[in-house]
Formats: sequence, structure tokens, C-alpha cells
Amino acid sequence: MKKKCALLLLVLVAASKLGLAQQNTIAINSATAKVTISKNIYGHFAEHLGHCIYDGFYVGDTSKIPNTNGVRNDIIDALKKLKIPNLRWPGGCFADTYHWKDGIGPKDKRPAMVNKWWGGVTEDNSFGTHDFLNMCELLGAEPYLSGNVGSGTVQELADWVQYTNFKGKSPMSDLRTQNGRTEPWKVKLWGIGNEAWGCGGNMKPEYYADEYRKYATFISDWENSGGLLRIASGASDADYNWTETLMKNIPLNMLGGVAMHHYSVLDWNKKGPAIEFSEEQYFGIMKQALLMDELVTKHAAVMDKYDPAKKIALVVDEWGGWYDVEKGTNPGFLYQQNTIRDAMIAGVTLNIFNNHADRVRIANLAQCVNVLQAVILTNKEKMILTPTYHVMEMYNVHQNATLLPLTVTGNDYTFNGQKLPAVSASASKDSTGAIHISLVNIDPAHAQKIDVNIGDEKVKTVAAKVLTSKKLQDYNSFTEPDKIKPVVFKDLALNKNILSITVPPTSVIVVTLK
Ligand code: AHR
Repeated sequence: MKKKCALLLLVLVAASKLGLAQQNTIAINSATAKVTISKNIYGHFAEHLGHCIYDGFYVGDTSKIPNTNGVRNDIIDALKKLKIPNLRWPGGCFADTYHWKDGIGPKDKRPAMVNKWWGGVTEDNSFGTHDFLNMCELLGAEPYLSGNVGSGTVQELADWVQYTNFKGKSPMSDLRTQNGRTEPWKVKLWGIGNEAWGCGGNMKPEYYADEYRKYATFISDWENSGGLLRIASGASDADYNWTETLMKNIPLNMLGGVAMHHYSVLDWNKKGPAIEFSEEQYFGIMKQALLMDELVTKHAAVMDKYDPAKKIALVVDEWGGWYDVEKGTNPGFLYQQNTIRDAMIAGVTLNIFNNHADRVRIANLAQCVNVLQAVILTNKEKMILTPTYHVMEMYNVHQNATLLPLTVTGNDYTFNGQKLPAVSASASKDSTGAIHISLVNIDPAHAQKIDVNIGDEKVKTVAAKVLTSKKLQDYNSFTEPDKIKPVVFKDLALNKNILSITVPPTSVIVVTLK
């Protein structure tokens, strides 16, 4: 007997060393499905930072790069394909230094400004309110404007709302018409400042809550249709006191959402490289990414105390991986490459948001183009799509679909005596009845065999796509732009109500059942 056990142990150890698949189970419980996954969970963020706007989205209408009113056509096409639901602008920290009136009217008359937070560069304000809101129309994305609370005034922000949203005759709508736009854009999503605890003014939560109440009083709905969603500047990571203070001190009818920011970063003083990282650094970043589940759960629990009906959205309007900048680039521009590690961050984070869709109703990846965990990188006329782009595209099937609650029982990814769950998953049913299951295996050495019990769902066809690569550190470059892209995945089978699938190491898979 002892001998048999020892042999079994030996076989298991050998199998694990050889990277053989390990067994996991997922049970989908469609009977309890009731929550819609808001498409806005799949939002993006475009700050005046490095080459996100200038020489990113915006090249100017005299550029040789094909563009529409100065915005690159290739970027517009790529983001439309992604089904980008909303775009946050102009910051970030930049937002609390931005005076929107400097960015309207004839471009040659606009005053220059210095981008104090990001590289100290001088900007000519050639990309302003009209440029951004018209670009959102081209993208089919809802604009999310971050207002200046830190160095602005209530009047300035109230004027911005009137300028963008008022249909009738008013000083601001007249100015808008004079600048070439008669119809209002009807912007719904308004951030009342950004990171008020830090770059947005170094405020205490009690003080910010009072400021918020004042701003929210004058940021009223110019259409009188209840269409504005006012979002309070939220906590950093695990600062639950910030969320509690806002929820306690702001009348709920003045509040549409409370924000929260969490970056996957190893150490703010030693972030480590974006490409040549070690497995230890990979494990550390995965730990940070998975922490999002605890953060969202605990912030949501605080919100539940004051808003049990879950009317107020938790808005994770900045998330993603943050590493050292690429060698030779401006440290203030936050330019970093994007590897399979970033695909893992995106896959697990979006699964967390899907599974918390009852409270998380808006989220914004930081950032869209050329900054932090970008989905698009540009180099002059060239443009590439990062592994993160591909995950966002694969997952867009969940937008506005009904969340199917599930439980995962599975293996751990272990490193240096520490462990993390290897498998992450979420599932939804769309308006056509198709079910989509997104699966992530963060373990770089072991495939994961998963039996997914789909319960009573009736299914005729099964299809899947996978995003993976041989090495964790692999990435798409301007010389090899398609090294990592989704391909058809066949290693799965449906037998009655059990879908059996083997998820390779460090891969993201989306399965479609119809
Ligand atoms: O996304 C980069 C910066 O990170 C944002 O400007 C700020 O809000 C956050 O600290």
C-alpha cells in the first residue's frame, strides 16, 4: 500500500514537473442569473499624457497619416472593432489642471499650457472639447469628462456642462454654435475631480465630500431628463474610509457613482521592467491584479451599508499594470510595452468586474494609446495592437449580456511557497441566447483541465478562441506586430452538460456555446 501511494505521489510530481494538465471544475448556475454586465465595464481612458493624445490619437489634419479631423483613422477603426463603450478624458491628474475654455475656438488662437504632471511639456491646446467629443461620436463611444475641481471653479465646470449639453439659447450654447457645433453632445458621464486625495488637491475625504456637494449642486442636468451621472473622485486601493466618508456625507440623490483606482504595481519606487521581468515579478503582478477582487468586494460592502438597493455605481476608472518606462523614453510619458503578462492582468480583471457587475458598472483601463497598459501603440505612421487589445476584443461579447454566476474549484499557481488561484472565469448569456465563458490560466508552467458544468443550458455548437504565447515575456512589436493574436482553439469537447477543456499555460480563452 505504502509503495502504491509513493508511486502515485511520484507520478503526480512528475506530471506537474512536465507541465501536464491539472484538474479543475467550474459550475455555472444560470437559475440565479439576474444582473446585466454593463458594457461600460469595458471603458478606456485617454489622458493628456505622453503620446496618448498628441502623436497618439491626434496627429492634426495636415498629417500624412490618414485621419479624420486630425484623429488617426487606424485608431478609430481598431477601437470601433473593440466596441469601445466609453472614453474618459482629459485626465487623470491632468484634469485638475485643465481649463476647458483654452481648448475651444480657432486653433491658432488657443493659448498654450504646460503639462505640469506629465513631462512638463508645452501643449498648444489644439485637441480640445470639440475634438474629443466629435471623436467619441466617430468611435460610437460615450464620452466621460473629468472636471477640474483641484484648480478650477464651480462656475467653470457648470459652464462646461452648459456648453456641451444645453440645447436652448444660453451664453455657453451660443459660444458652442459660434465654434461650429449647433447640436449639444449630451454628455452623461461627469467626473467631479480626480484623485482628490492626491494630485487632485490633496484633500481629506470630509473636505472633498463637501466640495463634491457644492459642485454637484451646480452640475445640474441641462436637459432636465435626469441624464447626468455625477461620479465622485474615489479611493486609492484599500482606502475604505474614503468610500465610507463619501457615502455617509453625500446625499445619495446627488451621487451617480463613486470611483476607485487600483494599479497592478510591484513597488512605486521599483516597478520593474515591462518586458524582461522575472517569474517572481510576474507572480507579484498577478497577486496585485487578483487583489482587485478583494478591493471591489470590500468597497462594495461599504456602499451596501448606505445604498442597499445598489443605485450608486462603483466606478473603477483607472486600472492596469504599471512598470518602469521603456529605456530611452521620457520618464514622464509612462510608455511601456505589453506582454502576455498584461493579457493575464486584463483577463482576470475583466472576469472580476463581470462577476461584480451588480455594483461595478463603469471601468476604464489606463490607458488607451501609448501610455501604461495600452491597447494600441503607435510609432509614426505605424500602429500595433497589444495582447491587452486582443483580450478586450475577445471579451466584448460580455457587453450588456446577462451574468451567469459561477463557482470555480481548482488548482493553485505556486511560486516560492506562495500560491494564487490558477484559474479565473466568468460567463454570460447574450440577447441571442449565446453563452460565453471566459477562462484564464495564469500558471506559466501547467495547463489546466477544466470541466465546466453548464447545468440545464441547451447547446448545439461549441467554438473557442485562445490568446497565448510560448514565453511570458512575448509581445507584439513594430517588426513583429502579430506575434500574439487570438486563434481558433480546438482542445475542448461537450459531453451532455459538461464542457471539458484544457487551458494551456498563461492563456486566455473565450468559449462560445450556442
Ligand atoms: O494614469 C496615470 C495617472 O495615474 C493618472 O493621471 C492619475 O489619476 C493616476 O495616479
